[in-house]
Amino acid sequence: MEPEILSTHTAALFDYAVQRAAERLRAGQLVALPTETVYGLAANAWDDLAVRRIFEAKGRPAENPVIVHVAGVELARASVAEWPAVAAELAAAHWPGPLTMVLPRAERIPLSVTAGGPTVGVRWPSHPFIQAVIRACGFPLAAPSANRSNQLSPTNAEHVRKGLGRRAPLIIDGGQSQIGIESTVVDLTVSPPRILRPGMIELPGAQGHPGSKGHLRSPGLMPKHYAPRARLVLWEWKNEQELAAKAAAAAVARAKIHVIAHTHIPLHEKFGRVAVIPDDAEAYARALYAELHQCDETGAELIVVEALPPGEKWRGIADRLKRAS
Ligand code: TXA
Ligand code: MG
Repeated sequence: MEPEILSTHTAALFDYAVQRAAERLRAGQLVALPTETVYGLAANAWDDLAVRRIFEAKGRPAENPVIVHVAGVELARASVAEWPAVAAELAAAHWPGPLTMVLPRAERIPLSVTAGGPTVGVRWPSHPFIQAVIRACGFPLAAPSANRSNQLSPTNAEHVRKGLGRRAPLIIDGGQSQIGIESTVVDLTVSPPRILRPGMIELPGAQGHPGSKGHLRSPGLMPKHYAPRARLVLWEWKNEQELAAKAAAAAVARAKIHVIAHTHIPLHEKFGRVAVIPDDAEAYARALYAELHQCDETGAELIVVEALPPGEKWRGIADRLKRAS
């Protein structure tokens, strides 16, 4: 059976989709739905069995915890055992939005959500659809990105359909994700707070993420993650000749090389595809995954991404590209 895709672009369609999604979620079933970062594969976060279905559908290892999505500070506080001042401050500054806070888990959150650990990640997303569903349900939604484990996150409904197929029987189409890369994850159980996964929200007071050393606080920090099928490299070039010379040295047919550029755009070389994303971090984040999905679909063997400009704004994007390469 083909997955059902519901649109939300009129008020009536939106309300109908909210009802249908809430019905399934109340019954312990999964729904793929839009958030402003990437699409999520959601289940009732209070329901252990429902959460296990997420792991099955994604082929996700049980030791990787899932984020709990709320629609209001009250539900967030019901999901955690402690609500320190720093959480209240960050929530006031960045919620609803692309920020996940890791805090001690409330008893009520099943261990399947936290991968057996003592902490839980909570986020209040800004996308109107997921907020409406959470309010209709009255319970929070456990939701990882709506892709098979270790594949690219989806930023539209079509990506979800192609990636999960029948594993996501109901997909809500809420348009293109506005942010485009996954939320910033910050651990508030340590002092100072520590960034486990950089994103589009910068947190000046927090420590950078621990990189490869030490033990793995966030399994999403596994070095290879968020990866397209093709090999991905980050190159710098000053002009087309330099890019052409580098491409010639790679043992890949020119037509199988896809280029993602932002500043030095190749105009004459016959690459398989040349995608141009604006030299602006927010626009770049919004477009990046769709471009990578497109490279996969059109048979790229080598994806050449133009090295990013420097600066804090680019940190989340640089992190994803590093993991993809
Ligand atoms: O933007 C997002 O965060 C999207 C949307 C759907 O909200 N979700 C998402 O979920 O990216 P997922 O499961 O693909 O990535 C969540 C990341 C993983 O790296 C996971 O290990 C980490 O957050 N995480 C979740 N709970 C955690 C916890 N209690 N402690 C440490 N890391 C945690
Ligand atoms: Mg993911």
